[in-house]
Amino acid sequence: MTQSTRRRNLKVVLPAVSVIGIMLGLVAYSPTLYRLFCAATGFAGTTQRADSDNGAVSGRVITVRFDSNVAPGLAWRFEPVQREVKVHLGEQKLVSFTAENLTDEPIVGHATFNVTPQTTGIYFNKIQCFCFDEERLNAHQEVDMPVVFFVDPALASDPETRDVDTITLSYTFFRSVNPENAKDLSRFVASAEPDAARGQQLFGERCASCHALGANKTGPMLGGVFERKAGSAADYKYSPALGNADLSWSAENLDRWLTDPRKFIDGARMPARVLDAATRRDIIAYLEKDTREVRARSELKSIAQGAADQHRKE
Ligand code: HEC
Repeated sequence: MTQSTRRRNLKVVLPAVSVIGIMLGLVAYSPTLYRLFCAATGFAGTTQRADSDNGAVSGRVITVRFDSNVAPGLAWRFEPVQREVKVHLGEQKLVSFTAENLTDEPIVGHATFNVTPQTTGIYFNKIQCFCFDEERLNAHQEVDMPVVFFVDPALASDPETRDVDTITLSYTFFRSVNPENAKDLSRFVASAEPDAARGQQLFGERCASCHALGANKTGPMLGGVFERKAGSAADYKYSPALGNADLSWSAENLDRWLTDPRKFIDGARMPARVLDAATRRDIIAYLEKDTREVRARSELKSIAQGAADQHRKE
C-alpha cells in the first residue's frame, strides 16, 4: 500500500470508527437511547411493534417457545399458558400468559422481553402485549394476559436467519419504578365492563391506518357504523362480497367480523384481524358510543331545523 492510499483509507475509516464510538458512548450513557437503538435495529434480540400483519402468510412453519421470569422483589406468579406454538411465517397468533399477585396489596409490574436467536428480533412483531405498558395487578388477582404476534416471512430470505426453526420469546417481570400511569390488568378479565375510552385509543392504534370516522379511506368511514347495514357507506367501493352481505353491524356481528373478516364474509377485503376478545370488546364499545353521539347530534339538528321551519311559516 502506498502512503497516499493508506492516508485515503484512514480518511474513510476514521470517521466511520468515530461514528460507531459516539453511538456506543450514547448507548452506554442513556438506557432510553439504547432501547430506541435496539428497537430500530432488532439488536440484542429486541422485538418489533406492529399494528397489523401484512396479510402475507407463507407455507413455512416455525416453533415459538415461551419463557417467563420474575425478578426478585416482585411477589407474582407469572407463566405462559402454552409452552410453545407452531406458526406459519406471517400468521398472526394469540397466546396467553397468566399472572397472579401473591400479596395483599395492588402491585404494578413492568415486563422486559427479548428473543433468541437474537438475530430474529428484527422479524418478530408484536401487535399486542402487556409488555407495552406498566401493568397493575390487584391483591391476589389472577389474570390471563394476551400476546398477539407474527413472524415476518422475510426471516426465510435472510442468510442469518433462514435456517432458524425455533424462536424463544422470554419475558421478565420487574416491580415498576414508574407506577403512576399503570394500566389495570382487570381489563383482560372476561366479565370486565366495556371501556369506550380505551377502545378509542385502540382504534387509533389498530384501525386508523385504514379507517376514519368521518371519511372513507382505504376502508369505509366508520362514524355511525353501529347497527348500520353492512356495505352501505356512501361513495365507498366495497368488495362484491361485503356490498351484497345481508346483515347489519350488531355488536355480535362486529365481534365476528373483527375476529376474522374473511372467514365471516367469504371474499371480503379487510386484511386486519383482532384476535384478542378484550380488545374487540372495547373497540366495539367505542364504535357504539360514537354512533349514539352521531344519532343524538343529527336528531338535535333535525329538531332545530323543524323549529326553524315552523318559525319561518309563522
Ligand atoms: C389494512 C386496512 C384496514 C385495517 C387496519 C382495518 N380495516 Fe376495516 N376495512 C378495510 C377495508 C378495505 C374494508 C372494506 C372491505 C370490503 O369491501 O370487503 C373494511 C371494512 C370494515 C367494516 C365494514 C364497514 C361497512 O361499511 O360495512 C368494519 C365494521 C371495519 N372495517 C372495522 C374495522 C375496525 C374496527 C378496525 C380496527 C380494529 C379495522 N376495520 C381495521 C380495511 C381495514
